[in-house]
Amino acid sequence: MDKIVIEGGHKLNGVVEISGSKNAALPIMAAAILTDEPVTIRRLPNLTDVRTMATILNELGIETLWSDGGTTLTLTTKNSAPCTAPYERVREMRGSICVLGPLLAKRQKAVVAMPGGCVIGLRPIDLHLMGMRALGASIDTEHGDVVAAAGRLKGTEIFLAGPNGPTVLGTANVMCAAALAEGRTIIKEAACEPEVQDLARLLNKMGAKISGLGSKQITIDGVDKLHGAVHELIPDRIEAGTYMAAAAITGGSVELRNMRCGDLDAVVDHMQRINIRITKLPDGCRVEPDGELAPLNFATAPYPGFPTDMQAQLMALLTVAKGTSVVTEKVYPDRFMHVAELNRLGAKIHTQGSSAIVEGVESLSGAKVIASDLRASAALVIAGLVARGTTEVKRVYHIDRGYERIEEKLCALGARIHREHDPEETAPAK
Ligand code: EPU
Repeated sequence: MDKIVIEGGHKLNGVVEISGSKNAALPIMAAAILTDEPVTIRRLPNLTDVRTMATILNELGIETLWSDGGTTLTLTTKNSAPCTAPYERVREMRGSICVLGPLLAKRQKAVVAMPGGCVIGLRPIDLHLMGMRALGASIDTEHGDVVAAAGRLKGTEIFLAGPNGPTVLGTANVMCAAALAEGRTIIKEAACEPEVQDLARLLNKMGAKISGLGSKQITIDGVDKLHGAVHELIPDRIEAGTYMAAAAITGGSVELRNMRCGDLDAVVDHMQRINIRITKLPDGCRVEPDGELAPLNFATAPYPGFPTDMQAQLMALLTVAKGTSVVTEKVYPDRFMHVAELNRLGAKIHTQGSSAIVEGVESLSGAKVIASDLRASAALVIAGLVARGTTEVKRVYHIDRGYERIEEKLCALGARIHREHDPEETAPAK
């Protein structure tokens, strides 16, 4: 297994290109199940999760043809008999659940292993199942698998929110399933995330009739058949936010290119409140310091609120702010695995229920830390950029799930960072 080694204390300066969105890629790739014609996706990031989804689709009888140096993928159904996403895959990546809706709608059957809990919380799938049932599917759980079957699905009205708000992949699943259902489906309390909107745009290119994108009510008029399409993914807003935080913690000046500031309004607003100047540019933005880092009280929320996927990275930044901050996690109330590791770097954070109290310190000091999940690893890398001495972030396979060439991109900005084999870590903990 590899680790990332960072020598802290070097300002980031320069330009960084943002990759295509991982969380848009996964449901969009799964949507290829809905048609017998080729679906071509451009601007795919080279990430473990994307490759895992390609493997799942292969196993589901879909040919995967990579081109343009691995950034374009053409998916063509060759065999529509397989209907199973096994536990071995689902445990590698919970995003595999997004094959459920497409399989059920197109192949009338889906067997998808139930994802277990994970380090960021319980992550149930009850809303996905409720949505499928509402569309007319019968759902059983047998030996750890969800076994779903249906004739042609039937449009209906579905209220899709749970105790922590709407569900992103649940909305994606219902939208895909309803696209081929008979009649009209209305999803109330739908997720508004840009990734959900991007999926709807692809489905509409394939012949679906979806309206209300980006609002809490999505209307889907079912069609008999979907056809092939070509689609370019939106930029990864969480990768962009992560580079904003990385630039800001070092006090450097960095230009982010190929991104959409409009998808990051809450992040930009929160950065500005802690004295980071963000100047919008036609194709991205410039991030630079605007005084001393100030503390901040903030809470995560579904889009357009502050994204849970940026909570750890902003917390890393607040560890060195002048004063005390309170971070409240409202989407995954237990998503604080990074706290203990940030404290190993000298941060002063304690948690109280779903809040973390962050007392800003003068400086952090490098140490060996363990990445527990994707965004926690990003937070540790950000902290390592300013920690005195050397920080080693272990188990970096987490970071490879969601950040394309992170050490290369940071190195090009002037960070002293490299990847090396970690003899202390052997088997990947899943
Ligand atoms: N929830 C339920 N029941 C369900 C589904 C969700 O109660 O059936 C709850 C969850 O426990 C959570 C909330 O609803 O409290 C929102 O979860 P959601 O379903 O929206 O999460 P997801 O769709 O499984 C996606 C992203 C996550 C991101 C969340 C929230 C992908 C592949 N994953 O997950 O991304 O945190 O939305 O924005 O799109 C990441 O990229 O690091 C990541 C974890």
